[in-house]
Amino acid sequence: MKKILITGGAGFIGSHVVRLFVNKYADAQIVNLDALTYAGNLENLKDVQDAPNYRFVKGDITDEQFIDQLFEKESFDAVIHLAAESHVDRSIMDPLSFVKTNILGTAVLLNAARKYWKDFSNKLFYHVSTDEVYGSLGESGFFTEQTPYDPHSPYSASKASSDHLVKAYFDTYGLPVVISNCSNNYGSYQFPEKLLPLMINNIIHSKPLPVYGKGDNVRDWLWVEDHARAIDVIFHQGKLGETYNIGGFNEWKNIDIVHLLCTIMDKKLNRPEGESAKLITFVKDRAGHDKRYAIDATKLNKDLGWKPSLQFEEGMEKTIDWYLANGEWIENVTSGAYKEYYKDQYVSR
Ligand code: NAD
Ligand code: TYD
Repeated sequence: MKKILITGGAGFIGSHVVRLFVNKYADAQIVNLDALTYAGNLENLKDVQDAPNYRFVKGDITDEQFIDQLFEKESFDAVIHLAAESHVDRSIMDPLSFVKTNILGTAVLLNAARKYWKDFSNKLFYHVSTDEVYGSLGESGFFTEQTPYDPHSPYSASKASSDHLVKAYFDTYGLPVVISNCSNNYGSYQFPEKLLPLMINNIIHSKPLPVYGKGDNVRDWLWVEDHARAIDVIFHQGKLGETYNIGGFNEWKNIDIVHLLCTIMDKKLNRPEGESAKLITFVKDRAGHDKRYAIDATKLNKDLGWKPSLQFEEGMEKTIDWYLANGEWIENVTSGAYKEYYKDQYVSR
């Protein structure tokens, strides 16, 4: 029976990974370690919280003593590490918390695995990372696993740094690791500060839709459940020491995706055509704003057979329907500290 530690399991992607593993691997024990920051919410896991193979532990990955004790006590077979500060705009306002959680936190986990795993056979430290470590693309080309790292935001620099630490533990200590770098995710349970849920929520409430700069930055969107499936595939079949890029070959300019959202939501909310698009407001650009991300996921497809399951339009419909049906979730996760942050953010734009 395998005992798998999933960090950041109460967050957006983490909750989908926890759900997939708890439901699919009844004979594994899934331990979800999360500090429950503003971005982590146990409401994301209501449907699996009582499963016999699931357990939640509240804790901070930067707390070395706590993490050491946890590893000593629990004898994990594997780690899937997702816990992180994840929002670029926040990293611009408060870079040190990103350095602390994303770099120090990853180092603390790696070090605990190094110290408490008696031998490394049949162990795995899986580090979940982002395509933003590769920097920004021009009009053409894709990020491959060979693209040199060139991060620009404090967020992407902290993730790049954590990736390097993971690779260093493989090269230096032989710690069995695997890394994946994924493009922008969308889907249910995403905190409404990221582009898509923020826009959906603002359209529902007829609030301005803040588009940075000219809206011509490009992101490559993947349905979160396809990311979780990719993590499952890499977890079980990935080659140690390797990196796998994950993406859906699905590039969109921000302004186009916002218009698409407006069109779909006018229909769903019975508004006259063009009504929601009137809310679009161009605001000051993000500092250091990466122009274009686009992932080449050929290696993952060729070597491990993964491909995305959903067409984007279908995924968007599902996502919008989920947010429309879960107003209470939005209300709950955006109350308190987040409300204050969001108010200030909007005023400063
Ligand atoms: P998220 O912000 O929704 O969730 C992060 C989770 O980590 C939260 O539950 C939070 O409580 C927890 N956490 C934060 N600091 C912690 C700490 N010190 N100790 C323990 N737990 C802590 O993030 P997400 O969007 O789900 O991203 C998850 C991972 O995937 C991150 O590592 C991120 O870099 C990576 N990633 C995200 C995307 C994306 O589009 N969202 C794309 C590629 C990679
Ligand atoms: P985001 O969801 O923050 O993801 P990331 O910056 O990690 O790619 O932003 C996606 C894109 O949308 C990015 O180019 C910035 C832009 N954006 C806006 O135009 N307005 C917004 O309010 C937000 C949050 C993002």
